[in-house]
Amino acid sequence: MRRSKTLRWQENRTFSCVHQPPVAEIAAAGSYNRGRWAEEILHTRGPITLELGCGGAETTLALARRDPTRGFVGVDIKGHRFWHAAKTVEVEGLGNVAFLRARIEYIDHYFGPGEVGDIWLTFSDPQPKNTKGTKRLTSPIFLRRYARMQVPKARVHIKTDSDDLFALAQKEPPEAGYEITRIVADIHAPLPTNFPADLAEILSVKTRYERKWLARGKRIHYVQLMRSPVNDQ
Ligand SMILES: C[S@@+](CC[C@H](N)C(=O)[O-])C[C@H]1O[C@@H](n2cnc3c(N)ncnc32)[C@H](O)[C@@H]1O
Repeated sequence: MRRSKTLRWQENRTFSCVHQPPVAEIAAAGSYNRGRWAEEILHTRGPITLELGCGGAETTLALARRDPTRGFVGVDIKGHRFWHAAKTVEVEGLGNVAFLRARIEYIDHYFGPGEVGDIWLTFSDPQPKNTKGTKRLTSPIFLRRYARMQVPKARVHIKTDSDDLFALAQKEPPEAGYEITRIVADIHAPLPTNFPADLAEILSVKTRYERKWLARGKRIHYVQLMRSPVNDQ
């Protein structure tokens, strides 16, 4: 039987991998675990990989299982969406994964400069009416926030079914100091023979929303960005 949202929220409170600091307090002025994720919380080395708007966090789980020495955090404002992934983390004992209930608008209250490596944006809401980009997780406003946390040359991986978001992701990033390093119009069509095998493997992981859009005959697009190689953010 499908668990209700309330039961998922209740069970999330019992999971040590789930972090749910009061959103309003953090937004007002606070910070949470800033600078502590890799060594103190996850007992890993190097910068943390984030999946923002992770939902079921399928990509986070696949990445974390592949590299237990690195830390991974799935972030979403809707805790019930990552409940199943969090339960999987508890059952499998994946110590290198955490889930954070947070508004991505305030993401730099949770992660400090140079604390983050790659960022995955999987099927972010395209927000077509939000022309200023204050709600679209791929907009220059958000990219500038990510750049403050990311190490030089870290990547932002954008997976989307939306033709509008795909077009914007090829146009806007240079404004925020990101270089576009890879564009794939249809990741489920045969990839070029020289395409990196590890990236192809992760891109082949289908998220919940991806399965939904594929069932409706949509193509899945991918854009990869690279943060500026210098610390000028
Ligand atoms: C379309 S769903 C995609 C979920 C998942 N990545 C997938 O591919 O199945 C977008 C997710 O982003 C989350 N989200 C959107 N805007 C957010 C924000 N500003 N802060 C935190 N989470 C956000 C939503 O709660 C939702 O779970």
